[in-house]
Amino acid sequence: MTALFDFFKKLVTYDADRDFYAKFNPSVAGDRDLISYRPMRASDIRSIVAIEEQVYNFPWPAHTFNDCMKIGYLCWVCERVDELVGYGILSLGAGEAHVMNICVSPKYQNQGLGRRLMNKLIEVALENRSKTLLLEVRPSNPHAIHLYLSMGFSEIGVRKNYYPAREGREDALMFSLALPPKPSNGG
Ligand SMILES: CC(C)(COP(=O)(O)OP(=O)(O)OC[C@H]1O[C@@H](n2cnc3c(N)ncnc32)[C@H](O)[C@@H]1OP(=O)(O)O)[C@@H](O)C(=O)NCCC(=O)NCCS
Repeated sequence: MTALFDFFKKLVTYDADRDFYAKFNPSVAGDRDLISYRPMRASDIRSIVAIEEQVYNFPWPAHTFNDCMKIGYLCWVCERVDELVGYGILSLGAGEAHVMNICVSPKYQNQGLGRRLMNKLIEVALENRSKTLLLEVRPSNPHAIHLYLSMGFSEIGVRKNYYPAREGREDALMFSLALPPKPSNGG
């Protein structure tokens, strides 16, 4: 009960000191506390597409993100203070959660945010009683592959000619992570 209260208190409490240091002297504020997660909103899509266009050769257009929200995919963003720095999208079905997109803004990459964002997606998948988390990745993306392997994902197959590429198509490596069963509270 106390944990729940603290959670909601943190959600609604405005901390002026934290905001001041976050904006004007981030090294004092401590980066860990500056990161938060929330469901994606339509008004985020502009910032998301701006990131998308910096990181992918074949970025998703705005309407794809709109469709993901309309269809009911679980769409989350990661913010550093009030700047959108990453996003992740999950689809759910038959006990499986599928990572459709996970992305961190280039200027915040390689600082542990991708790992934290994936942990958030794992938490969301678990809350929705998923037993497995699946994703596809390009073989030409060693940074992402390193992250997934280091988080316990296993390579389970290859989807031939899955992605568009500069010349023709590129295969996708399929990765899977078994999720632990959600602990029962005895009720
Ligand atoms: C993949 C991605 C989400 C990872 O996010 P990130 O914030 O950079 O990742 P992290 O900082 O949490 O780093 C995770 C691991 O990758 C390693 N890493 C980071 N940058 C790297 C680089 N340029 N090359 C190789 N490894 C790198 C880190 O060292 C870390 O490993 P470690 O914990 O063993 O040291 C991010 O790079 C990204 O958005 N890429 C573009 C979009 C994309 O490719 N998404 C995945 C599609 S399947």
